[in-house]
Amino acid sequence: MAPYSLRTAILILAACRASHALTATILADTNRDGKVDITGDTDAVGKQSWTAERGALFLPNVVDTDRRCSVTATDVETMHLCHDATDNVLRQQDYLAPIRTVPTKGLSENAVGVINVTDSTATEFVRIFYKNQGSWSFLEEDHKFTAAQLSDGLELGIDGRDVRRPETWDGRATVYFTVTDGEESATDFVELRVAPYLTHHHVQLAQQSFVSNWNRVYLQRFAEEFATHNDDAGLPQSPVQLSGADIWVQDYFETGYASIPGPSGPIAIRIILQSIQRRSAGRYLFSELRNEKVGAINYPQSWDSDQTYWGETYDSTGNLETIPPYTYNGKSYPAGRIIIGEGDTSPLVLPFLQLQETQDPIILDTSWLAVGHVDEFIQFIPANNERGWVVMAEDPLAGVALLKKAQADGYGSLRALSRDVFTYDPYDGAHAPCVPQSTIDFELARTDVDRVNQYAADKIQANLEIIKRETGISDADIFRVPGFVSSSSRWTCSNSLVSSAKFPATQDDDKPLDIVNATGSWGAPIERRESVEKVHAHYPAAINGVILSNSYYLSANPWGPIIDGVDIFAKAIEESYAAVNYTVHFIDTFFTHHMGGGEVHCGSNVWREIKPATWW
Ligand SMILES: *[C@@H]1O[C@H](CO)[C@@H](O)[C@H](O)[C@H]1NC(C)=O
Ligand SMILES: *[C@@H]1O[C@H](CO)[C@@H](O)[C@H](O)[C@H]1NC(C)=O
Ligand SMILES: *[C@@H]1O[C@H](CO)[C@@H](O)[C@H](O)[C@H]1NC(C)=O
Repeated sequence: MAPYSLRTAILILAACRASHALTATILADTNRDGKVDITGDTDAVGKQSWTAERGALFLPNVVDTDRRCSVTATDVETMHLCHDATDNVLRQQDYLAPIRTVPTKGLSENAVGVINVTDSTATEFVRIFYKNQGSWSFLEEDHKFTAAQLSDGLELGIDGRDVRRPETWDGRATVYFTVTDGEESATDFVELRVAPYLTHHHVQLAQQSFVSNWNRVYLQRFAEEFATHNDDAGLPQSPVQLSGADIWVQDYFETGYASIPGPSGPIAIRIILQSIQRRSAGRYLFSELRNEKVGAINYPQSWDSDQTYWGETYDSTGNLETIPPYTYNGKSYPAGRIIIGEGDTSPLVLPFLQLQETQDPIILDTSWLAVGHVDEFIQFIPANNERGWVVMAEDPLAGVALLKKAQADGYGSLRALSRDVFTYDPYDGAHAPCVPQSTIDFELARTDVDRVNQYAADKIQANLEIIKRETGISDADIFRVPGFVSSSSRWTCSNSLVSSAKFPATQDDDKPLDIVNATGSWGAPIERRESVEKVHAHYPAAINGVILSNSYYLSANPWGPIIDGVDIFAKAIEESYAAVNYTVHFIDTFFTHHMGGGEVHCGSNVWREIKPATWW
């Protein structure tokens, strides 16, 4: 290039700068590749308007580094109000999502830069930090960056003080960058959104299980056996034994996570969602489970003393399960999709789950179940097919058929329930608990066996049609697990109900509440009001079990009739799961959970690996 033209070029550049040169450019990880591109335009396109497909993300930073808050979390009304992002101290810089400004050159010495957030709600719910000579500082409201800092380009980080909530904040934050130099000023902005709260699905491998630590012989026996299965299935740690008098460990919290793109792969934290029911054991989620990688939240946050806001049995989190990832009709659910049951009331947590947007809940009908939870009849299990999973569904007619075949084969006078009394059972003083002695003939002669099981089968089928319509799954990928339900009739012993001695109507130090009354354990039991006929599992239900690995299934022992040394229910259940390459292991739930309305799934919980963590 000739010296003359170079000189001309420089002059032209200088002229531009003097006339309309002031620019401000702020960028975040809009294309979600874990980095902010300040030299190219990969993060510039579409940065000002966040969409589901494109737009920068940040974490709801509700973890508790050093368990600072957990150790003092005793007050149920305030325990959720302390976590890493409730003050302005940065405890883990890895949890900040990056925001950068493009170096602004040629500013006069007095130029200043301001970063701020709209609207006032977003301002309240995010924290922004800036890096200054290698260390992070909290960005105060009126902070002004100097010309020198602007010339280097600002390195900022953002996190959320909360998750998305219908009543308060949809998670959006627009970050403005304004440069003022004398009379001139320039502004730019980028829109970000807090990552959604997501629930686990069964294609994610189990990593940590939870049971109740309630110290009664028969409950401890369950916890110990569960721990053995946990270890045999290959989980890296023993189950956490949670404090509190609530054996329905599935029902008072949902395990989940939030994740965002990071420079070397997704960055994720675990988040535990306390059931809206405000069950007393919920406090231990905040005091015992939180740490630098695990946060806990409740919804809603306010502690309303009016219990009608605490949800009914539909807000038990055993009624909240997740279909693994799928794509159907051009729509993808990379983090899977929630299913939740309703009757004549809806779960109160629904708007919260909907606002997370990513796992758009499918509503099923669970009005026909005495307990009302989806885990009583459907389950999604990892499989070796293109989709990666299949459906397991309870088949009440198959259970009836098993008994009828035994009867036809001449075994009608055998005990229908093969369980005996064990030393670990809940004795009432010296009195052993009774176990039903009724025969197969007796159970089949009960009125309504066929009608009630057909009724349940129809209700299950109607729900499966919803799943088929929403996911595109075909009958070939729906597998059946034998069950057996009843409505008004229950196992009886010497003309009294077996359950009456076991599960009291109000909290008893010795005895747990049944699974429905436990939902209202802070006061009067919340009774189901609907008029729809309701059924419950008569035999301990296999479908209501725990997927501990890709081959290990933990089921309630059904205690079916024993013919030629073989439990005909257990055998049929093993065959169902063998068809999907699972081995069934049985655990006794009869007195611990079954007679109270639940099984092994209801009595435990699991968190799973956060993989894939990319939902975007
Ligand atoms: C951002 O800060 C500037 C400078 O303090 C102020 O004038 C402006 O109103 C603020 N904008 C918003 C959206 O808060
Ligand atoms: C079970 O394993 C067999 C053999 O590997 C495979 O062909 C089949 O697809 C598997 N079934 C499921 C449901 O994963
Ligand atoms: C809950 O407790 C009430 C007594 O308050 C009792 O009548 C009812 O049967 C219990 N619910 C269930 C599902 O057993």
